[in-house]
Amino acid sequence: MNNVNSGAALAPAPSLAPSAAIAISVATAAPATTVLGLPVAPDGALPESIGLDWAALRSGGFAGAVGSSFVIANAQGPVQVLVGLGDAQAVGAEQLRHAAAAFARAAGTHAEVAFDITSVSSMPADVAARAAVEGIVLARYRYNTLRREPRGVALSSVTVVCAADAQQAATTGAQSGKAYASATVLARDLANSPHSHLSATLLADLAEAVASQRGLSVEIFDKPALEAMGCGGLLGVNAGSAEPPRMIKLVYRPSQTPTGHLAFVGKGIMYDSGGLSLKPGDEVHAQMKNDMSGAAAVFAAMSTLAEVGCPTMVTAFLMCTDNMPSGTAMAMGDVITIRGGTTVEVINTDAEGRLVMADALVLSAEEGVDAIIDIATLTGACMRALGTGLAGVMGNSQGLVDQVRDAATTTDEPVWQLPLEQRYRNEIESPIADLKNLGSPNGGAIHAALFLAEFVGDVPWANIDIAGVAQTPADTSWHTTGCSGFGARLLVQVAASFKAPGK
Ligand code: BES
Ligand code: MN
Ligand code: ZN
Repeated sequence: MNNVNSGAALAPAPSLAPSAAIAISVATAAPATTVLGLPVAPDGALPESIGLDWAALRSGGFAGAVGSSFVIANAQGPVQVLVGLGDAQAVGAEQLRHAAAAFARAAGTHAEVAFDITSVSSMPADVAARAAVEGIVLARYRYNTLRREPRGVALSSVTVVCAADAQQAATTGAQSGKAYASATVLARDLANSPHSHLSATLLADLAEAVASQRGLSVEIFDKPALEAMGCGGLLGVNAGSAEPPRMIKLVYRPSQTPTGHLAFVGKGIMYDSGGLSLKPGDEVHAQMKNDMSGAAAVFAAMSTLAEVGCPTMVTAFLMCTDNMPSGTAMAMGDVITIRGGTTVEVINTDAEGRLVMADALVLSAEEGVDAIIDIATLTGACMRALGTGLAGVMGNSQGLVDQVRDAATTTDEPVWQLPLEQRYRNEIESPIADLKNLGSPNGGAIHAALFLAEFVGDVPWANIDIAGVAQTPADTSWHTTGCSGFGARLLVQVAASFKAPGK
């Protein structure tokens, strides 16, 4: 995307990520100009074309472990790259995605790549093609927007190679792989954009610019509109900021009668300084431009629903503002009023995510949806509990939480359920208001979820806390250093397979 400084008067409108330019196709053989990835299981059948046996490969250091690769130069045709699948019995989409990512990295100097799924018999061709395209596209992602010289060679084409009778299924899978991967790419681009390059206003402008081409309707709520609606959570957090707030409402309606209606809510803190409860200047806090990763995941997922033919209607609220300290900022001890009238004593201005989310949860419940899923870089406590590889999930409906867990397994964006423990509910009671925004020092992820639960009424709801997983520490497999885009594919998946749950 075309990031711009929000201070620039003639800033061009932001556009969508250029990954849309990658051509995805399916063929029975690799085009001669490409580099060809060949997944193999240890001691499994080897393609004749390589002219090597397992003894030779092992002596070269390749044993077929998942994630390993071996490049074979070829004078007659495309360079071939063997990639390990690991244990043949256990090969699922997750292993194949890793293998495809290992191939994409080993073939990092090539713009045109092909990947052969002919030998992958443990899953249908559509599942294999989707995983392969996702692994390749995501492994080659780079955030180059702000560099004079781009890093890495950009992909221009991916060809999935498979048998003639699997072409149709593979084509469906490859297209869906492209759609899902593009969702993650867009979420990474948005979250990687520094605060001064992507304000709440610019994100709203982007939503307006792309909504119709993505099959969405869009409504933007500015400060006066939010005041009229009584959205005191978003307005309270915005009070210290020089940048105005935006609530972005996106609605996806499937072309056929919807099979259900889901709401997504995304935390869009464009930068979290902590407000008057100012954060210390350590490294974790230097990453607080990513505090809109929930909104980025929702934005990206919504942009993808039409492309994957999602049968569920989805209404989304993105709650966008900075959290800044200033003479006009919310003070500790202030009491704000959330949409619907609940009053909240603000004990700590750094527990701001739950405040902006509360307005949106109330609005979602007012829509009469079948379920609400929110996603937010909500608590450092969740990161402390689960580390940087697992998101937390909590909710008031086990059926909905299970749908989130299933979707997370499919997309390999792992979540772990934490309890919505009612014993701690008294910790968010305030002596002067209906609630306070802070509990005791321990169990912070649960306190935050208990707070959010107050605003959904009886609607089945799940909260995904992505504080720990929003940032990828190092390049591994299809994960790339920087903002992870976690949740974008998960949300598409959960919407695509959604069934209205009981409580
Ligand atoms: N955005 C942070 C949570 C966060 C922390 C995300 C670290 C990613 C990495 C959130 O707004 C926050 O500041 N939470 C506080 C809450 C506390 C004041 C109760 C926290 O977790 O420290
Ligand atoms: Mn905060
Ligand atoms: Zn925050």
